[in-house]
Amino acid sequence: AAAEKGGWSSFMAKEVAEQPEAVANTIRGRIQDGQVVIPELDGLDELFVGINRVIITACGTASYAALVGKYAIEQWARVAVDVELAHEFRYRDPVIGADTLVVSISQSGETMDTLMAVKYARERGARTLSICNTQGATIPRESDAVVYTHAGPEVAVASTKAFSAQITALLLLGLHMGRVRGTVADASADVAELAALPEKVARVLASEQEHVTQLAGWMADTRSVLFLGRHVGYPIALEGALKLKEISYIHAEGFAAGELKHGPIALIEPGQPVFVLVPSPRHSALVHSKVVSNIQEIRARGARVIVIAEEGDAAVLPFADEVIHIPLAGPMFEPLLAVVPLQIFAMALATAKGLDVDQPRNLAKSVTVE
Ligand code: G6P
Repeated sequence: AAAEKGGWSSFMAKEVAEQPEAVANTIRGRIQDGQVVIPELDGLDELFVGINRVIITACGTASYAALVGKYAIEQWARVAVDVELAHEFRYRDPVIGADTLVVSISQSGETMDTLMAVKYARERGARTLSICNTQGATIPRESDAVVYTHAGPEVAVASTKAFSAQITALLLLGLHMGRVRGTVADASADVAELAALPEKVARVLASEQEHVTQLAGWMADTRSVLFLGRHVGYPIALEGALKLKEISYIHAEGFAAGELKHGPIALIEPGQPVFVLVPSPRHSALVHSKVVSNIQEIRARGARVIVIAEEGDAAVLPFADEVIHIPLAGPMFEPLLAVVPLQIFAMALATAKGLDVDQPRNLAKSVTVE
């Protein structure tokens, strides 16, 4: 097993480090003449034209990738997108039919909850597409089309590189759909952002690994950590909290930052660690300023604020106990950079507590029962 880990202390550490490749391999072959063209979807335009609704269904980490996908597909393909946990989708009477595209996301392609949701969608006449990391798995076989992520085999129970590859695939799918539907006039800026992602993910790994590991070491006795995000930072807050629960057994919750005042702010007491994902002020000065005021609100109540912000964002500095920097990226592309420090944090905290990050208690890599 030591040899399989290639010198890394765990599969999870190895897989976190492999993310630049996972993203690059997922993009490869899917950009042609400055546009996103996914060869597997060649001749399948009918999946995307004439639909009035997209539902993305998944479980666990894949469901947070799905939430990022909602923002991307709505933005580029101009069609309403809902994200549904697979086990909730199936056991009610969802309003779906031939005008619905159901996208499923699964690293393993074998998660029973997700598989049953896909079968159910098909029985109801919906069009189905899966995003999957495992060639020939059951979920892609049950779907009309598949877009594979090329993260390579993921061994650690807690998903990292597969998540990054899922987000990458959803960004590609959003741009592919936008082209097919005629809703993206010029994809060149976004295509350039995509192409730059692997190098930027590598930069986050290189620049923040040590800082975040040290931070986690200081926090080994922490009993609860909160994560706040807005827009595409919101799903990343959820994923940051899930990683911490899964491998370090610390109570963690992710919130949409705007929801703070509607309840969660009552949890803030002196010393409470809170990660805040700050969107770039270049994308929306308004959204940025809202997040900065959220930071001020929790800081005033004694929270220990750890900010993840783009390089050069000076507005957050006066209110942050710690700042983790990510490179500048377009609005849809920040999640792929912001999630990396959160993965490292969860891993380092679990390690500081003496836990085996690859084999968390009570969890399985792939849950093939309902
Ligand atoms: C299990 C794993 C999670 C994973 C989820 C979905 O619960 O422990 O890490 O996110 O299944 O897995 P899938 O293979 O469908 O992406």
